Formats: sequence, structure tokens, C-alpha cells
Amino acid sequence: MGDSLDFALISDDKGIVDSIRMLCQHFNYSLEVWKNEDDFFDQQTAGNEEGGASGPTVEPLLILVSALNTPTHESVTQKVQVAKQVYPKSFLGCVVAQKMPKEEASFIQKSGANIVFLENEIYNSSKLEYVCSNIIREMFIPVKLADFEQERILPFDIYYYAPQRSKYLICGHETLVLSDEKMAKMKKYGDFFIKRQDINKFNNYIKSERFQSTASLEKRCRFQYLNLCWNYAEFVFLLTDYSRYNSLQEGKALFDNCKEISNSLINSLVAVDDLWQVINQKTIEGMILHHVPAITAYAGLFALKMGMDSTKVTDVMLATMLGDVGMIYLPPSLTKKLRSGKVSALTPEELQLYQKHPADSLKVALDRRLPISPKVRDYIVDAHERADGSGFPRGRTGDKLSQEVFLVIFAEEYHIKSMQKIGQEKMLMNEFNAKLLDDPSMMLRYRPTFVNELRNLLLHDE
Ligand SMILES: [Fe+2]
Repeated sequence: MGDSLDFALISDDKGIVDSIRMLCQHFNYSLEVWKNEDDFFDQQTAGNEEGGASGPTVEPLLILVSALNTPTHESVTQKVQVAKQVYPKSFLGCVVAQKMPKEEASFIQKSGANIVFLENEIYNSSKLEYVCSNIIREMFIPVKLADFEQERILPFDIYYYAPQRSKYLICGHETLVLSDEKMAKMKKYGDFFIKRQDINKFNNYIKSERFQSTASLEKRCRFQYLNLCWNYAEFVFLLTDYSRYNSLQEGKALFDNCKEISNSLINSLVAVDDLWQVINQKTIEGMILHHVPAITAYAGLFALKMGMDSTKVTDVMLATMLGDVGMIYLPPSLTKKLRSGKVSALTPEELQLYQKHPADSLKVALDRRLPISPKVRDYIVDAHERADGSGFPRGRTGDKLSQEVFLVIFAEEYHIKSMQKIGQEKMLMNEFNAKLLDDPSMMLRYRPTFVNELRNLLLHDE
């Protein structure tokens, strides 16, 4: 057993174990498997007592408990509670055999599960892959020592990265008061990290008066953006939680929350000179839905700068947030091809499935009875159309597509083409904008009047 663990699986089901092994191998996540919760509990506690000789000494980032052959929801709950008791801060998932009544599902969630999967979702959808990309790959986000205030209680844990051991280690526990002395000692660590799920706490922390005045606008924007990223992930987890028949109220609350967060982000972004400092960070390529928060930010900002009213600004942002949710239901073999950018390698059946994702996204939103207008429904469905009629799913031409739809389409293109790729030299925003807008193929994808508007918007400095 190594001293850090990404994925802890508690399952005696061969199918589940094989499938998770494959996923972890593919994404290079470390994995340990226990047959049942008692073995898990015994090994952890034994390991801790004996100084970590036989059990992991750090909490796993994600624990998945499979409860497929568990007859009652009480026994499912029990399994979840054991895992929660051992590692209360790990993200906890539970796999159940079939849909269950809301009361039972919410019972499981109340007992500590952050997310419930249906068995077939593990095999036939990309939902676990999405959860892992958020919980494992993107778990730690960088902060600076200057973000912390002396003599104030920490509302979250702070970590540093130990390169020799390739792991994140805690250097400040939640509730610690950061004394002068402690802060001086911490200087030697350089960069600090917090867990992504603590981003809301961090935001409240830096919203205190002192930081309002000292934190730069860019920094605040950056955290608003990270806040959107995390809340968006939670929104998707909930939206796609089919263990429950109905989560309308929670869905609406999260939806409103995302709307509010993205609106406040846009309002601050407008004042930022170097937009890319906030949004364009080095990105893991091709993970499904991973790009949505950036696309949403661009769509909202461009809409605002084009002079659209606040309803339209919100509408295009909602369309970008919801438009790809249906991709969660694509089979893992298909998202694997999409991840490597090989749309051309899709079989005709796969292509058909892929081209259905806008309609699937709309279906998820409607199933959850999210309060979206008919216009937003159109923006969602039309997000892969092109002015020359060669897009999908309906092949609609430019004269039938609205300015707002073009903006939704453009925001995605803009983000995908401009994002910094690891190992690639940084582009300059003005140069990039000019090159993109001078590309003659723009006229095939967008209406000329829209391209002209983009030119006014993005080339104004030259
Ligand atoms: Fe899409």
C-alpha cells in the first residue's frame, strides 16, 4: 500500500471491480479494493494503531461503496456509514441496483453519500469518469500564503505538495489559528492548496473586509470562477442523479445558485483587462463537461459586451451550462475516443449517439423540470449547428439561427481553440483573436453580421 490513495473501492461484485480497475488504469488513479466494509474498517483502524503498517495512512480522495446485493436501504445506509466513519472527509459514492423512492435515496445521502450511482450507470455511462475527473484529478487548487490572515481561524484544511513523495500533505488543519510563528514556518512550503470542495468556504473567507480591499480584482475573479467550476460539478452530480425520482427543489436551488454565481462572475469579469488570467488555465484535455464553466464565462461575457440585456445574457449562459450534460450518458468507449479528439474514429452508430447529445441534454433538464424557457431549449438543441447548414442535429442554416445561438456556438469554439495546453507555449490574446477572426472558415460557421460583431468586440484594441 502506498501512502496516498485516489480511489478506495468496497465491493465484492466482480463486474464492478473489473470496470473500476479499468477506469483507474486508464486515468492512472491509484486504487485499492476491499471486499466489504468490515474488512475496510478493520484494515484502516489496524493500520492507524500500528503506525500505518497495514492500512492507508491518508484518506482516499474518493470512496465507492457498492451495495448491489444489499436487500434493504437500511443495510445500504449502514455500509455508507461505515465508510463515512473511517474517512469523513473523503468524497463518498454508493452504487445501488435500481432506482429507489426519494425517501430511501435521500436517507442514503443523509447518511454520508455524496452521490448515488445506479449499477448500469457504472457500465454504460461516463458519469463515474466525470465524477473522478472532478474529485481526483482536479481535487487540489492552488492558493497563496498571502490569501491567509493572521490570528484568524482556518475554516478549511490547507495542504502543500511534497514532490519527493508526489503527494499533497496537510500543513494546516481546519480550526487552526494561524499565528505569526506558524505563518513564518509555512513560508518554506511555497505554494499551498485547498481541496476543491472547500472553495465555497474559501470564498467566504476571502470575502472578509480586509481581503475585499487588498485582493486584486483578478484574484477575486479567479476564485469566483473556481467557485463556478465546483458548483457546476455539484449541479451536474445532482442533475444526473437518477437514483431519485424527483429532486426538483434541490435542482432548482442549485440551478439558481449556478445562475447567481455566474452572474456575479460576469459582472467582475467585465472589469478585468486580462481575461485569460482568470479563465484560460492549463487544462486537462478533452474530459467531458470539463470545459463548460469556461465556455459559460465566455458566453456570458461576450453577450454582455455585445449589449444583450440581462435576460439574454443569463439565457445564453444557461444554454452553455446545460447543453452538454447529456454527454454523461455516452458510453465510456465513446468518450474515450472523444477525449483523444478522434470524432472521425467514431463508428456510424457512435456518431449517431454523439449527435444526440444536445437532445439528451435537453431531456435531462426537462426530466428535472428545470425552469428553462423555450428559447433556451432551442439554444441547447442548436448548439452544434453551422450557418452553412452542415451542423447537427437539424442542419439548420444561418438564417434560422439567432444571434444568441451563434454566441453559444462561438463561446465553445473560442475556449477550445484558445485554451492553454500543457507543454505548449502561451499564446497572446490579441494575436489569437485576430487569427481566429481572420480565418475564412468563420463565414461558413457563422452569419457574416455575427462575425462583424465579434470583430468589433474582440479586435477593438488594434
Ligand atoms: Fe455539445
